[in-house]
Amino acid sequence: MRQKSSYSNKIFLLVLFFLIAGTIHSQPQKVCVASKAMVVSAEELATKVGVQILKKGGNAIDAAVAVGFALAVTYPTAGNIGGGGFLVAHLGDGRNISIDFRETAPKKSFRNMYLDSSGNFVQEKSLLGGLAVGVPGTVAGLILALEKYGSMSLTQVIQPAINLAEYGFPLSVSNAKMFNENRKYFQKFESSSKLFVKENEFKEGDIFYQKDLAKTLNNIQELGIKGFYEGEVAQKLVKCINQNGGIFQLEDLTAYKAIERDIIKGNFLDYEIISMPPPSSGGIALVQILNMMELIHEKNPNLDELEYYHSLIEVLKLVYAERAAHLGDPDFIDIPTEKLISKMYAKYQSNRITNQATPSKEIQSKLKDFFESEETTHYSVLDEFGNAVSVTYTLNSGFGSKLIAEGTGVLLNNEMDDFSAKPGVPNQFGLVGSEANSIEPHKRMLSSMTPTIVLKENKPYLIVGTPGGSTIITVVAQVILNKLLLKEDIETSVFKPRVHHQWLPDQIDIETDSISEELSSKLVERGHKIGRKRLLGLVEAILIEDGKIIGVSDKRGSGHAEGY
Ligand code: GLY
Repeated sequence: MRQKSSYSNKIFLLVLFFLIAGTIHSQPQKVCVASKAMVVSAEELATKVGVQILKKGGNAIDAAVAVGFALAVTYPTAGNIGGGGFLVAHLGDGRNISIDFRETAPKKSFRNMYLDSSGNFVQEKSLLGGLAVGVPGTVAGLILALEKYGSMSLTQVIQPAINLAEYGFPLSVSNAKMFNENRKYFQKFESSSKLFVKENEFKEGDIFYQKDLAKTLNNIQELGIKGFYEGEVAQKLVKCINQNGGIFQLEDLTAYKAIERDIIKGNFLDYEIISMPPPSSGGIALVQILNMMELIHEKNPNLDELEYYHSLIEVLKLVYAERAAHLGDPDFIDIPTEKLISKMYAKYQSNRITNQATPSKEIQSKLKDFFESEETTHYSVLDEFGNAVSVTYTLNSGFGSKLIAEGTGVLLNNEMDDFSAKPGVPNQFGLVGSEANSIEPHKRMLSSMTPTIVLKENKPYLIVGTPGGSTIITVVAQVILNKLLLKEDIETSVFKPRVHHQWLPDQIDIETDSISEELSSKLVERGHKIGRKRLLGLVEAILIEDGKIIGVSDKRGSGHAEGY
């Protein structure tokens, strides 16, 4: 790791900002080939912020922290300082690390807080406004990463985000569209309306200023973690959350801690997989999927398309049933991690697969479950010092709870909805709740976020992740399977249409062209049900192969890959 620099020339950084803002492409760059370093994120300006930090000699952690703060400004649907997430990194010295900055339930939360007097789940309360908000972890997580593994100062890495908020930036088509689509929700909150609702609709090229957010970021720049979790900003957060139905106390914020956790490690073919441990289900589930697919491939290396998809779907059902039964916050429940990710267990599980679809209700008798939404964002960073960083963070739904804390510019998450609001009883989506993921004060809600790094000979080979709620795990798994097992090139591995099964509901969701009519009929003959047609994931990946670095931003989204 490089030494910390005391350099804090804001004028220089301002010039840098205008250089970055002045080079926006009319179309984001989906594929970029480079030789030294790469950033791939869901938004072009944020990608450019990361690239500039790397070009100034920062390492991948510095760049990842800068991108995290920048996305909070330029990609407010999911980029955030009012939410939480996970960071996985492989460092140039060979260490693998992970940082958990998932939100926690506030101290006054309780198990049945989203049920009405008749015991019915009132989902609006866990999705919109103050009661939906979990204690945000992003600021603590990014600063922990920077202090422990970065080489630059907070002043340097946060300044681009401050500039983007203070001086504004031109809205992309997709940002304008997302703002307009959520207008009716923003209108419910005065503080959110001030920023996101105007007389006419937003359009591409409108300059979007966030002066309050700039002040909050300035506060963090000056005071570090205390600039968000204590003092004026914290008071404003608590006040606004509670004025809008919440149950926050100042001590919820002062007590928040980001946590370093041991990564989940697996082996797949000749590669090593490192990914996120609980409270994300991502790492464990991903390794389980890959373990079983490896065994299936070993038995039959020439699986045809029907056998491949049939096996994959059956594996996914088994894995999501385990997820529901066993996974939650490791500080509150015991998780049999070693057993779940062992090759022995994969053998036992994969032996349950026959050539007919097993109905989901027969896969697990002790059904437990979760509910998740799909708006999240992922970014991947590689530097020239051998550091690779994979970050997935989120507000949960698009724009989270839709509530901006008055005077702070901070959009607050609705992550509380990732808990099982009513354990044991199916919710409106046909999902049943899990004891492991029930609400308790200070507990972290179960996640599916799967920031992952694949290593080859202990060097970064593939950095990958995606948003997509419960589909995150299946999307990351398919990109890895496409590349490593099916030997597709990286563009195809990311762009190729995907499928998804999460055990319940018992159906295969598909993307257009993911499976042909003929294959679909054959799967149905085997007992599978074809479910919804929908978009699955927005992958941001970097491949390092044959001396080349290839950044790929999913064609499904408006993300941007850039390197040098
Ligand atoms: N909020 C989506 C997830 O954490 O999985």
